[in-house]
Amino acid sequence: MKIAVIQFEPIFNQKDKNLSKIHSYINNIDAQLLIFPELCLTGYYFLNREEVNEVAETSNSDFIMELQSLSSRINKGIVLGFPEKDYKKQYNSCCVILPDENKSRIYRKTHLFYKERFCFDPGDSGFFVIDYPEWDVNIGPMICYDWRFPESARTLALKGADLIVCPSNLVTNVWQSALSTRALENNVYIAVSNRIGSETRNGETLLFNGDSTIYDYKGNVLVKAGPDDEKVIKVDIEPKKTRLKSFNEFNDIFKDRRPDMYKIK
Ligand code: ACM
Repeated sequence: MKIAVIQFEPIFNQKDKNLSKIHSYINNIDAQLLIFPELCLTGYYFLNREEVNEVAETSNSDFIMELQSLSSRINKGIVLGFPEKDYKKQYNSCCVILPDENKSRIYRKTHLFYKERFCFDPGDSGFFVIDYPEWDVNIGPMICYDWRFPESARTLALKGADLIVCPSNLVTNVWQSALSTRALENNVYIAVSNRIGSETRNGETLLFNGDSTIYDYKGNVLVKAGPDDEKVIKVDIEPKKTRLKSFNEFNDIFKDRRPDMYKIK
């Protein structure tokens, strides 16, 4: 199965421009699953809930419906970050759109970073895994700052993920060794799609530092983009190889767990 991570610079509040770029990537990249950055439909640095509300999409908006019909027509999966609204709530979400629309779902970011708390509600979807028999893969989404919590990747792996997809807008470099470790300790692939460029709001600049990476299930870097280049990175993965959790005759990283010893009194 071939997966691709798209590293690019979404332009703040230029939804149409961003969307036409996204569509052109979807149409032109030869891979089954395409993973785009967090909030890449709109850009990242919102200051308040009202700003988000103006551009947020509902789960049944034309934007989602069009991505779904495109996905079904060309048989490609699309993971993509966007601001979502649902009645009075709004979320930093990503859609996992698969050609079989019954499998498509939206993940709502669990752990909110920095000033996101002024713009979004904490996600309520929980961590889930989508099994996609046609490609023999189990896909688990998380978003950016979720990486800081080993529970995110662990939960996805225990729920059966072979591949963790992580749309991101990372503003530090400290995540790289952590995500390599998350891949190793869970024996899963991890695909981090980060954006590049910067956004300045109210005199504060956030610099997004690229380095999008796909890790194999031993924590090795399979392919990596640079810190500031627009780039598509692609790799063939073998999802079923992640399912054997033993690494010698006696040890299995899941069966050896001792959850009763992890209880905090
Ligand atoms: C982040 O969660 N965008 C760092």
